[in-house]
Amino acid sequence: MLSIQVTGKRLKKQNREVTKFISSLASDKRISKHVLMINMAHVLALHKSGYISKEDTVSILRFLNSFKLSDELDEDIHYMLERHAIDKLGIKVAGQMNLGKSRNDQVATAIRMELRDTLIRTMEQILSFQDTIIRLSRKYVGTIIPGYTHMQRAQPVLLSYHLLSYFDSLSRTFDRFVEIIKRVNMSPMGSAALAGTTIGLDRRIIADFLGFEGIVRNGIDSVSSRDFAVESIASAILLSLDLSRLSEEIIIWSTEEFRFVELPDEMAATSSIMPQKKNPVVSEIVRARSSFPLSSLVSSFSIIKCLPYSYNLDLQEVTPLLWTALDTVIDSLRMTSKLMDELRFRQDFEKELSEGYTCAAFLAEYLSTKKGINFRVSHAVVGELVSKSQQRGISFRKAAEELLSEIARKYTGKRIILSGKEIGRILNPKEALRMIKTEGGCNPDKMEYELKLREGIIEKQRKTLSLIKSRIKTKLSHLEREVSGFVSE
Ligand code: ARG
Repeated sequence: MLSIQVTGKRLKKQNREVTKFISSLASDKRISKHVLMINMAHVLALHKSGYISKEDTVSILRFLNSFKLSDELDEDIHYMLERHAIDKLGIKVAGQMNLGKSRNDQVATAIRMELRDTLIRTMEQILSFQDTIIRLSRKYVGTIIPGYTHMQRAQPVLLSYHLLSYFDSLSRTFDRFVEIIKRVNMSPMGSAALAGTTIGLDRRIIADFLGFEGIVRNGIDSVSSRDFAVESIASAILLSLDLSRLSEEIIIWSTEEFRFVELPDEMAATSSIMPQKKNPVVSEIVRARSSFPLSSLVSSFSIIKCLPYSYNLDLQEVTPLLWTALDTVIDSLRMTSKLMDELRFRQDFEKELSEGYTCAAFLAEYLSTKKGINFRVSHAVVGELVSKSQQRGISFRKAAEELLSEIARKYTGKRIILSGKEIGRILNPKEALRMIKTEGGCNPDKMEYELKLREGIIEKQRKTLSLIKSRIKTKLSHLEREVSGFVSE
């Protein structure tokens, strides 16, 4: 028999430099275990349909079981694998492996398998981050901080309430990944190059062996679409927005101007010249790397946009961008969670806030609901009170005690009296927050309920995730059992 290589006889040998230039081997390492499973499932399907003898099936499966990527140069893992198979088993046996499949359907399948694992890891990391948020919220359950709008002090809030806002946003991203996994977990195998194959293969058996929930029906769609990658990156972007905003807050909070938190020494860095410095380096890096998913999105979008159907080698360059986007958020989630656990929050805001203006809106609402003043009027009364207290350089509370009746009379013509006790209560942040009535609002008396609600959500998310994992695992174990049935004979 003439000597035959994987690359066949159509072309002369490829220039080494070209191979090096177009090779995907470096990023194929990440999909190598899936590529092996794909080959196993495919060989089994070929055997079941009567295309490969049992003996050859056993030889090929044994080879696949022991295959290790070498550091030789090749276009990609698919060629390398077949080349090694031919070297080891001879063309008569190994030459049957690629019947009814193409690198196009294989690579799309392998990426989907690796992506589903990576998404699962991302979701696990979200869960553990959410655990941290709950732990922290419980630890600081009574702690009040000033809440900001436009970076100006707005209203007092509970620290846990602030943290739960991140929790809820992360839950939405978790849900997005649950939805995305459904679309990722569909098998392209059997689409071959683009049109399907004349080989009678049961696509559903192969899909099942590989842990998929179904098949990508249309072959052209199978090999050319990477929308599942783009939507995964897009959700990673949303996750990175939370991470970078939280990091920005931690950075601001740790400044001398704010002094909201003290960073743990072990997670900070100092300056090489200014000995007093304690730099929030973890949050700075998380903030910076939060841009990576966006650059992955821009690049992959630009690669895919205008690509004619079906497969083009351009698609190869999307794969590493996908891993960069997700690996970055997984890593950042892990480090931010570790940092959060060690943050020491300032807990003595209450006095400062009861002297300041953050309860002004509560006072305006109180005048409106309890003293019958039209809200726009009470807003004006309190506004003037703020202005007067600033002009006279007295605390808001003192101004309220001394000037409120007079100003209120000016605007309403009525005698409105608030006792010192009443004023004290309205301007005390914790007591004022207790007057919040709306569902989901920052009422300290409702905090336990809000926390329990989130604990329930974590539990639900955890169940969803373990169901996803166990379905995949069960299916993959069928493949494993089938393969070991063959190779152990
Ligand atoms: N290395 C390729 C990728 O990652 C595999 C598919 C190549 N297909 C082809 N017809 N050259 O996308």
